[in-house]
Amino acid sequence: MSLSEKIQEIKSTFDSDYKSVKNNQLDNQLIYNKYLGRKGLMNTLYPLLAEVDANKKSEFGKKINDLKNHIASKLDDKQSTTNSSKNKLKVDLSLPKSYDSFGSIHPITLIIDEIKSIFNRIGFSSVYGPEIDTDYYNFEALNIPKHHPARDMQDTFYINDQVLLRTHTSGSQVHFMKNNEPPVRILSPGRVYRNEDISVRSYCLFHQIEGLYVDKNVTFSELKGTLEYFAKEFFGSNVKTRFRPSYFPFTEPSAEMDVYWGLNSESDYRITKGTGWLEILGCGMVDPEVFKSVEYDSDRYSGFAFGLGIERIAMLKYGIDDIRLLYEGDFKFLEQFKK
Ligand code: PHE
Repeated sequence: MSLSEKIQEIKSTFDSDYKSVKNNQLDNQLIYNKYLGRKGLMNTLYPLLAEVDANKKSEFGKKINDLKNHIASKLDDKQSTTNSSKNKLKVDLSLPKSYDSFGSIHPITLIIDEIKSIFNRIGFSSVYGPEIDTDYYNFEALNIPKHHPARDMQDTFYINDQVLLRTHTSGSQVHFMKNNEPPVRILSPGRVYRNEDISVRSYCLFHQIEGLYVDKNVTFSELKGTLEYFAKEFFGSNVKTRFRPSYFPFTEPSAEMDVYWGLNSESDYRITKGTGWLEILGCGMVDPEVFKSVEYDSDRYSGFAFGLGIERIAMLKYGIDDIRLLYEGDFKFLEQFKK
């Protein structure tokens, strides 16, 4: 075989070896040894060069070098792609994470939707009252006259003397009853505002759901039964609840319902003020004074009302130990509520 045929042969076996070699360090090494190693095929060409005519030596020498360069550069390429896909990260780990373009439903909305559906099943429908309301709807009509000490329970943001940011959803009761005759079975969710210090337990705005049921012969035991039904549907049949007597100017008698949170960790003590119980709602039988404001006949009708604190319920349900997380819009927090 002539030198030129030999060069041609080595080139075509290399090209076919090269094509079949995987992107794998070991294969690259084998192929390198086979062609460019000390005992490699390229080195078999040099003794043949000695036998070539003197005037052809440089031409053949160049051909051999070209082939050597060809092989070396191909193997180099492979080597570098292997390295870069394996070892060199093309990402900058110091950059912030990129986010999916789809958001998730906020836990407050998830809770409101679930509570609405639980009460819809027993005939309550949803209505909405205004967030900016008057002193009359928020206080006066609910039997909380000016200078009544109960106003201190709800530190109010006033816009002017008469207009304020509602401090509870109970004003929705008044709006609805003024415009509708009994029987009434409504839920009224929404935001409320109080000028409170911000802490793990309280914030200057939060969410409530008001419930109101007015008909003939509505009793306190129906109120208890309804709220116990709700707690079981929402938290599961093992939930522990308790009613404590309380005071609201617009209900008589009044109570608060607590749900058992537990006392296992330091934050449980903080959240429940060391009792293990978390208050989730206020409730009671609608006070006849309220019926007077909306011109309902309290001899014919009675009713119950309740106001649920959504944040407390969200914290219980999802094990959130700092209320502020619900308003900060932190992706890492919100992403956990993706369905
Ligand atoms: N409005 C009361 C509050 O914000 C809760 C409540 C609603 C109590 C309805 C009784 C009846 O604390």
